[in-house]
Order: sequence, then C-alpha cells, then structure tokens
Amino acid sequence: MSPLGWDAPVDLEKEPAEVPDPETTEVPASLRAVIEDHMANYPDRRSATLPALAAAQRVHGWCSPQAIEQVAAVMRLTPAYLESVASFYDMLETHPVGRHAVFVCTNISCSLRGADELYEAALAATADDAEINVRAFECLGACDIAPMASVDGVYVGPLTPGDLPELLADIHAGRPVLPDRQLARRPVADPHANTREFPEHPIEALPDEDAANLELPVEDPAAAIGEPGGERPGPSAPLEEPPEHGEADSS
Ligand code: FES
Repeated sequence: MSPLGWDAPVDLEKEPAEVPDPETTEVPASLRAVIEDHMANYPDRRSATLPALAAAQRVHGWCSPQAIEQVAAVMRLTPAYLESVASFYDMLETHPVGRHAVFVCTNISCSLRGADELYEAALAATADDAEINVRAFECLGACDIAPMASVDGVYVGPLTPGDLPELLADIHAGRPVLPDRQLARRPVADPHANTREFPEHPIEALPDEDAANLELPVEDPAAAIGEPGGERPGPSAPLEEPPEHGEADSS
C-alpha cells in the first residue's frame, strides 16, 4: 500500500506539515541547482513541480519523505502540495522501487504479439531482484517493435521471454541493453536519423561544467525551432489558413 497515495488513510491527529526551513533542511547542491533551474523557467514556481520531483526521484530512487522535504524546502511549498502531485502521476514513485525501470508495454499491438507472456516472465525473473522495477505500461508509441519494453527510458524490441536473461545481465553490468534491439539504433529510411555507431551523447561525454556551456551547432536557428520559413530536411506541412469570407458557404 502506498504511504502517500489514495490508499493511505488521512491521519487526522497529525499537525499539517509546514514549508520546511531552508536553513536547516539539507539538500544536495546538485539537486538544489536543478530545481532552481527549473523554477527559473516559469513565472509561477509551482509550474516546476513535476521536473523538480522527477529530479529528486532520480537522486533518492523514489519520492521519499526526505525527497519531498528537500523539494519543498527549495521550492518554498508545503510537503502536502508536493505529495498530492506525486501521488497523482504514476511515473512518480511514492514507495520504494528498484532503481532500474523496466516498463513492459501490454497494450494491444504488443499484447497481440506476446507481451502478456513477456510481462509475466519479467515479473517472475525479477521477483527477488530489488534493483529492478517491472511494470506493465500502456502503449509506449513503438508498436513497430512490438512486443517491446522501455528499460530506463531506452526502447528495446521485439522481445521474447528468452531475451530476459541477457536484458537483465546488461542492466546489472551497466552495459547498453540489447544494443541490436534498441529502437534508437535501428537503421531507418532517413540515413541521418539513427546510427549503429553507438556514439556518446555530446553532453554526456563532457564534464559537467563544459556541458553547461556547450553550444550545439545550429546552422539555421529558424529551422532548429521549427519556425515557418526555416529550412527543413523534409517537406513542410502547409500552414492552415482560415477560409476567405464566404468561401465556406460555396460548397
Ligand atoms: S502497443 Fe506496445 S508500443 Fe504501442
């Protein structure tokens, strides 16, 4: 039963938690910096709640009372407000889970191709493995590699129960998971889209201070942000214009 979610009864005797004192609440410096960065993006600091909780979850493994307290201290919000958000969004964990997330898609395309057996096999294979958090998930948007799973955010498929020993061994060894089955490394029609060269991400490859100042090459800023008129590699969809006055009645 979740200690923070819908299943937890309200303790009517408990004093309402106040905004933690930022002077006495210890917050890891890197977590504080990430949360403050997100807060700086919005006029209302509450808008940064989801990325702030996600950052705390990455540090603590779940939205623990300590994680909530730290976010509350930095954002100057009550723990109750943050708990209400954390208990609503199911990718924010409100109880301890394995730090590696294996989300097995069991929606229709994957289910028709054996996802339910895959999910049951994954549960059985990780029953005693405290490091792995196996969950069934709705369509992850990669039906062309059904049945598939997201492993710490990396899409792999098609999978069979027979792939699980190698998949789990890769996770525990810190290796790329089933590299030949990763969606991001599949050759596709666009020769520039994917690669099998396994390059390191340019930001991950740099020390933190260099990554923060990294300017990625952008030849045409308009194209980079999708502004009309920017050069794009493929055909552009025409802009929709409202019909001329009277045109709508002529059909
Ligand atoms: S149904 Fe599994 S990715 Fe869409």
